[in-house]
Amino acid sequence: MRELPEAILAWYDVHARDMPWRTPPADRKRGKMPDPYAVWLSEVMLQQTTVAAVREYHNKFMALWPTVAGLAAADDADVMAAWAGLGYYARARNLLKCARAIVADYDGVFPHSNDALLKLPGIGPYTAAAVSAIAFDEPSVVVDGNVERVMARLHDVHDPLPASKPQLTALAATLTPQTRPGDYAQAVMDLGATICTPRNPACALCPWHDPCAARIARTAAELPKKTPKKKVPTRKGIAYVARRADGAWLLETRPESGLLGGMLGFPTTDWTDDPTPNPPLQAEWQTLNTQARHTFTHFHLELVIQMAIIANDAQIDRGHFVAEADFDPKSLPTAMRKVHAQIAATLRHD
Ligand code: ADE
Repeated sequence: MRELPEAILAWYDVHARDMPWRTPPADRKRGKMPDPYAVWLSEVMLQQTTVAAVREYHNKFMALWPTVAGLAAADDADVMAAWAGLGYYARARNLLKCARAIVADYDGVFPHSNDALLKLPGIGPYTAAAVSAIAFDEPSVVVDGNVERVMARLHDVHDPLPASKPQLTALAATLTPQTRPGDYAQAVMDLGATICTPRNPACALCPWHDPCAARIARTAAELPKKTPKKKVPTRKGIAYVARRADGAWLLETRPESGLLGGMLGFPTTDWTDDPTPNPPLQAEWQTLNTQARHTFTHFHLELVIQMAIIANDAQIDRGHFVAEADFDPKSLPTAMRKVHAQIAATLRHD
């Protein structure tokens, strides 16, 4: 099927979205290829996160660490702090592992092939396919949520996700062209993001209008079908916000494994149905009358907030103090920023 890739590539030549890590199609045709490091960074960031949210973080990372060798040499805590707010923090830990492997095993030069990329830590099938296609024009089959939706509609597939993923991947594979595979991968993703949108797809503007089976069957807006997700449970915890008389905050780096692994935050209890109090020191803890709520992939979290003002020489059981001048709430993951915001609001109203 040669006509389908040709039609979407012609559309992409005119409508490609501008992104800081992208090389526009006209430049690629002249032989200019993107920086593989910038592409890899963008693809890791774009998993589970929108293009709009990623732009600012990508710019920040490229300014702080312009090369993979620079990132590999960074302090873990600085990288985790720069990632704070993007969520899914395992991505940031794996990012560092991968950067260090590329320096150690490949002299800081990204391998080109899907198979070699796949062997690197933290690079799964999606990232390996996306980087090999976009950065090196390998004809890899790139399938993200946008591509799944486009394929389900183009072929009018009614089997629900996630079970239909292998079928949608096979359909995507039959279309992937040998010419301009990098632009093709980005074209399908852009089509999914701007034309073949989840609701109200703009079929009239679509380069695949004529061959689209779901448009003909008038089923586009109801595809892809999805098997309903289980209801998300609620877990509870207590967050302990201790401040010294000199203004320093008691923070804790969370263990590498587990939620918010490696991230800085306020000490908390375990997050369970019925948490056991576990303060980081004995103090006169005051309970705030508001809570911090945050939704993770698999559960809602409700954090009761307890606060204490403590002496400058107070002995602590865990965590470390961060001086007021060095404390930046933006270096905290969003759940912890919400705790801080509640504290800040309470202090303003006192
Ligand atoms: N989503 C993830 N990667 C993308 C890319 N390279 N272009 C457009 N959307 C994307």
